[in-house]
Amino acid sequence: MQKRDLLYEGKAKRLFTTDDDNLLIAEFKDDLTAFNGEKHDTEAGKGALNNRISTELFKLLESKGIPTHYVDTPDENHMLVKKVEIILIEVVVRNIATGSLSKRLGIEDGTKLPFTLVEFYYKRDDLNDPIINDEHCLILDLVRHEGDLEELKRLGREINVILKSFFADKGLNLVDFKVEFGYDREGNILLADEISPDSCRFWDMESGEKLDKDRFRQGLGGVKVAYEEVLKRILGENK
Ligand code: TMP
Repeated sequence: MQKRDLLYEGKAKRLFTTDDDNLLIAEFKDDLTAFNGEKHDTEAGKGALNNRISTELFKLLESKGIPTHYVDTPDENHMLVKKVEIILIEVVVRNIATGSLSKRLGIEDGTKLPFTLVEFYYKRDDLNDPIINDEHCLILDLVRHEGDLEELKRLGREINVILKSFFADKGLNLVDFKVEFGYDREGNILLADEISPDSCRFWDMESGEKLDKDRFRQGLGGVKVAYEEVLKRILGENK
């Protein structure tokens, strides 16, 4: 399958049309951004790592019954995906308080939450992706049916159950993550975008070391080594 026209360019990926109207090719870029693009750098090999990691996680989730846009991984930096209409809601699922949650509500960093928290953010860079509730989602007409919001929460929680236990077996704590969904041709909701250390937080269970994009956000260095470590764990080095 060949890339045709550039359909969309985001901060970490480019999306291309293909000869098949129902399929797109995602190209994973080496760019790293934080704080809505204010901080920017490139890390050679990061795109390929996220492509591999996302591939493995999409396959795992599909095998457990989560519908995803994943089709194939033709090479290092590209993923063939089903075309979806992206829902402009970033679904964030949290097990441990950190990042914007700790900052916004004053919950001490590292506090285990009493239950899994699911939050919605409006995917609008020009507004800085503000947190929104169900009613905001409906006012903004972000989903086709009101019940879709419950479905997004259900899928977010189910993905969390699967990934949390998968990573726990690999000695990693899944702290939180962000997922995006879209409607396919038939109107089904599919997990889309990517699942990688750009969009998840992983803390090593023994050392507490951060193995995700917080290394870049916080200027800790060792970004690529951390992403390589996540891939290594995924590929089978169970702890
Ligand atoms: P936050 O604590 O900054 O709100 O981030 C929560 C989770 O969502 C974390 O795993 C990082 C991820 N995330 C993204 O993937 N994209 C974003 O734009 C933001 C702000 C967070």
